[in-house]
Amino acid sequence: MSKFARIIGTGSYLPPKVVTNDDLSKTIDTSDEWIRTRTGIQERRVVTDESTCDLAVIAANNALEMAGVDASELDLIILATTTPDKIFPATATMLQTAIGASCPAFDLQAVCAGFIFALTTAEQYIKTGAANKVLVVGSETLSRIVDWNDRSTAILFGDGAGAVVLSGSEETGILHSKLYSDGNYLSSLQVSNNYINETGFIEMAGNEVFKIAVSRLSSLAEETLSACNMTSENLDWMVPHQANIRIISAVAKRIKTPMDKVVVTLEKHGNTSAASIPLALDTAVRDGRIQKGQTLLFEGIGGGFSWGSILVKF
Ligand SMILES: CC(C)(COP(=O)(O)OP(=O)(O)OC[C@H]1O[C@@H](n2cnc3c(N)ncnc32)[C@H](O)[C@@H]1OP(=O)(O)O)[C@@H](O)C(=O)NCCC(=O)NCCS
Repeated sequence: MSKFARIIGTGSYLPPKVVTNDDLSKTIDTSDEWIRTRTGIQERRVVTDESTCDLAVIAANNALEMAGVDASELDLIILATTTPDKIFPATATMLQTAIGASCPAFDLQAVCAGFIFALTTAEQYIKTGAANKVLVVGSETLSRIVDWNDRSTAILFGDGAGAVVLSGSEETGILHSKLYSDGNYLSSLQVSNNYINETGFIEMAGNEVFKIAVSRLSSLAEETLSACNMTSENLDWMVPHQANIRIISAVAKRIKTPMDKVVVTLEKHGNTSAASIPLALDTAVRDGRIQKGQTLLFEGIGGGFSWGSILVKF
């Protein structure tokens, strides 16, 4: 049995179509200035005819290539998504076939905390010896569930995918993870359909989500560091869910982490839900900011609410 689950490869993919704040201001009553100031977002990517699986395949192949792992060696695939291509079969099974894997594959749904929940699940498989090589992907086509006439939500979300390959290891990897859910807040952030075959769009009480996100994520970051007998001084990078720059900077301030130790990609990506953390991670790995041996804190919150954190030695 392996002592640790290590990240040995990262990958990501963004669909080519860019939608800028100025593009949005042509169809809804908003402005580039308002969106930048209130959220930090400048542009987002949106699919044209690509599916959630299409994005996931490219991100997964990039991560497998970096890891030097062939898809046939995978023991498990977990795909975190809120926007599966079908009610069933799981998008993860489409991904499995598309990349040439033959292992078990399932979808996991924890909205914007999906990647944290999926990585934590994968770690358990590795630590119990049930799996040794696991592919964890976050892939979303949120543009399909955004009401493009609703300025309170249309400005926030984007499409994309990120992936990691985990391997069992005696070398330190994931050091700590913690998950929370509280279903008392269902209506604060949800898709509005009542029945599974009804079309629905994202509905959100923005102010409430904002306050809960700052308070829950700040407490969780403190709890995580303290559980590992660390302070923020031991952190090399915080890689947070990319929802709003004001949420990210409030949490960083509370744990006394300067913004130059926080990976921020939301200006170009918007909020890509389960894809946002692995997208940010891969961006910072490939541009050389994140280096092997560094200590990283992932944290994120999404509808439910569900939230979680992972401290990892990269
Ligand atoms: C959505 C969000 C950006 C709104 O910012 P805010 O500072 O809370 O703004 P408010 O909702 O209080 O709205 C302030 C004003 O701007 C207006 N407004 C809202 N959206 C606007 C837009 N896109 N463009 C211009 N004006 C807008 C409101 O109508 C309101 O006008 P009023 O004062 O005349 O009533 C912010 O609440 C947020 O990011 N919340 C968290 C959302 C999130 O991260 N969700 C995903 C979590 S995983």
